[in-house]
Amino acid sequence: MSRARPRRVRVTARAKLNLGLAVGPKRPDGFHDLATIFQSVSLADTLVAEPARAFSLRVRHENAAVRGSLPAAARRAVPAGADNLVLRAARAFAERHGGGAARLTLVKRIPARAGMGGGSADAAAALAAMAALAGRRLARRERLELALALGSDVPFAVVGGTALGLGRGETLRPLTLDRPFRAVVAVPRWQIETRAAFRALDRRKYVLTKWGRKLGFAQSIARKRLSPFRAVRLGNSFEHAMGRREGAFIDLCSRLRRAGLAEPRLTGSGSAVFGLLEPGVPAHRVLERIAGSEALYVVHSARKSLAIERIPAPSG
Ligand code: C5P
Repeated sequence: MSRARPRRVRVTARAKLNLGLAVGPKRPDGFHDLATIFQSVSLADTLVAEPARAFSLRVRHENAAVRGSLPAAARRAVPAGADNLVLRAARAFAERHGGGAARLTLVKRIPARAGMGGGSADAAAALAAMAALAGRRLARRERLELALALGSDVPFAVVGGTALGLGRGETLRPLTLDRPFRAVVAVPRWQIETRAAFRALDRRKYVLTKWGRKLGFAQSIARKRLSPFRAVRLGNSFEHAMGRREGAFIDLCSRLRRAGLAEPRLTGSGSAVFGLLEPGVPAHRVLERIAGSEALYVVHSARKSLAIERIPAPSG
């Protein structure tokens, strides 16, 4: 299907939280089976794409924390060159579906290597931007296939909202929240590398023995309208394989708990930790009670991951 080609496309690419995340055994393909509850949240990057003769990417960092900021090392964790998922996604789209190259500008607000799906959100945004610039609308299956080739979390970043993720995270069952929620996210100055986190879990075999029960729990809560307060009870397997970060993680959770956040959780493989705000509790009241130097964000649940704005070519 095709439609008029815009002069420029602006995509809002929202972050995700894993309300709960259970990791299963390693599969023959090297990936692990997962059972996770994905949730899009309001914190977002912005990607602008314009037609150009060659692909290029400029990254600008913007601090969206309500308190504190990320260290320079966190900014350096976002590659600006050909390794950036935005460029990989844009090139993959053009190779498969045509439409030419693009000049891409990314405003980065989602902390990198925090478990908030920033890179995946940017990749999903790039696919959407390239399709819009080319005046194409891909079938859902085509979009999700391209997305999975870029990373396990990219299919959810394309779909967004609330979903149970199985398989590598790409088998998605859409869910409905019983009500919207807000959360405080604390991002430590240290980061976690996903691959290393999976390896650490493989060494802690006893975590994986709980897999069957966890999978059952995830499937049982995913049948009804979902309460986020119930979803966090799924836990996060990575919390049991924090290695040298265990002390810092436990300390952060207890500070968040003391400030009034019910059940702090790691999102993805970390390092960000979030706590749900009880309905009616003002965020500033909780924020002022959180001791420490972590960058703090206040987010709310979002029903979509991507918002696409087409700026039309002048007519005539
Ligand atoms: O798919 P993605 O590139 O995000 O995964 C990064 C790494 O995390 C993989 O190479 C793999 O080592 C690990 N991973 C895994 N099981 C998953 C997802 C990721 O083992 N379901």
